[in-house]
Amino acid sequence: MSYQFPKNFWWGSAASGPQTEGVFEGDHKGENIWDYWYKTQPDKFFNQVGPNLTSQVYQKYQEDIQLMVETGHNSFRTSIQWSRLIPDPTTGVINEAAVKFYNQLIDDLLANGIDPFINLYHFDMPMILQEKGGWESLEVVELYVAYAKTCFELFGDRVKKWFTHNEPIVPVEGGYLYGWHYPDKVDLKAGIQVLYHEALASAKAIAAYHAMDLDGEIGIVLNLTPTYPRDEQNEADLAAAQFVDGFFNRSFLDPAVKGHFPQDMIDWAKANELLPQTTPEDLAIIAENIVDLLGVNYYQPRRAKAKETPVEKREAGLLPEDFYDVYDMPGKKMNPYRGWEIYEKGIYDTLINLKENYGNIRCYISENGMGVEGEERFVNSNGMIEDDYRIEFVTEHLKWVHRAIQEGSQVQGYHMWTCMDNWSWLNAYKNRYGFVAVDLDNDAKRTIKKSGYWFKTVRDNNGF
Ligand code: BG6
Repeated sequence: MSYQFPKNFWWGSAASGPQTEGVFEGDHKGENIWDYWYKTQPDKFFNQVGPNLTSQVYQKYQEDIQLMVETGHNSFRTSIQWSRLIPDPTTGVINEAAVKFYNQLIDDLLANGIDPFINLYHFDMPMILQEKGGWESLEVVELYVAYAKTCFELFGDRVKKWFTHNEPIVPVEGGYLYGWHYPDKVDLKAGIQVLYHEALASAKAIAAYHAMDLDGEIGIVLNLTPTYPRDEQNEADLAAAQFVDGFFNRSFLDPAVKGHFPQDMIDWAKANELLPQTTPEDLAIIAENIVDLLGVNYYQPRRAKAKETPVEKREAGLLPEDFYDVYDMPGKKMNPYRGWEIYEKGIYDTLINLKENYGNIRCYISENGMGVEGEERFVNSNGMIEDDYRIEFVTEHLKWVHRAIQEGSQVQGYHMWTCMDNWSWLNAYKNRYGFVAVDLDNDAKRTIKKSGYWFKTVRDNNGF
């Protein structure tokens, strides 16, 4: 069977500034929470590898753009590093070296037929602002909006696709629940305030963008994890799955697309004294400034069942897990190289949910991919990684994307995570995701993997 995709489908990949650029202390860049955390607690990072060692995109971006051409990209998303562009956001002074770098990157992408999609925030709070409370602070929301406007003014003549955040639930989970991000707190109430402020910051940036009347569009990138109950006939399991979907997905999806928070989550927060501080004026801004399009990151689903063990009282207060149990479904397919479930149909279920319950919002798959630990074991005698497992992973997901399109989904593209293997926060380089291998022991030398050549044929044929 042949799988043909719509004309002008976006084929490409995604990355982020802090995970790829390097030069974390150079060229006048300010410090962000990752730089600070690494310098103060290096043991937290896999093999003690921090943002000091990345894939050196700051120096090698021209070579990388050629590799994107060779691997079939017509579009590519990365993020601007707030702390690089405005090292001290309390002054607003722009770093001219950063402007030069991002201008060159954008211009070179365009010159090579690759549309730059730019995200404004990928987990990288400037440290000066974290000291003011980070996303807990309304002052930081205002400084973010000022930063967003600066980006639109500097680059908005050429960048036509903007995103306000990547996966805004992750700073809540990582920073306020589970300890994978600085400030490494366990405080659900503060996490919910952060969630609300991120949604507010997004709406305000969207308002600012639309007010500038530039020729382009703006959205948000969400990691949507379709959630399945253990037993569809069991009311308690269904309620557990609805809670998980509400907390991890709809808390951002609903304000972004519908302009308001989900009522079941508001009721839950109220009942548990977790409601954030809001104002009617700010809620009106969220209501009036919804996204033009949505980026959907999909890696794996969630499976939930009713809480079986009673909630233990803990000093730090409640956690989302106090309201459901994870269901470890027997026989589920696993990625053998990194321990995540593989459930290809989840991408389709997500797209159909957007079609049926979110006004068929225009969207694209902004991340999907397969992390592999120890990938060097698959190198062949010519030095190329034969990642047939990745080709199969992408193929099977694309088949479900194709089916969703046939059923009317307005999904407009597919970006894999990622092009060049990159640094991944606390996991550093443990899991490799790229179409292109990066040899850290050899000046970050790049070598296209088998999947990279394969992706070029998919793009050339607009399908497979
Ligand atoms: C995505 C993030 O959710 O997952 C990326 O947007 C991240 O920033 C990617 O790198 C892979 O994560 P991990 O933990 O497998 O390295």
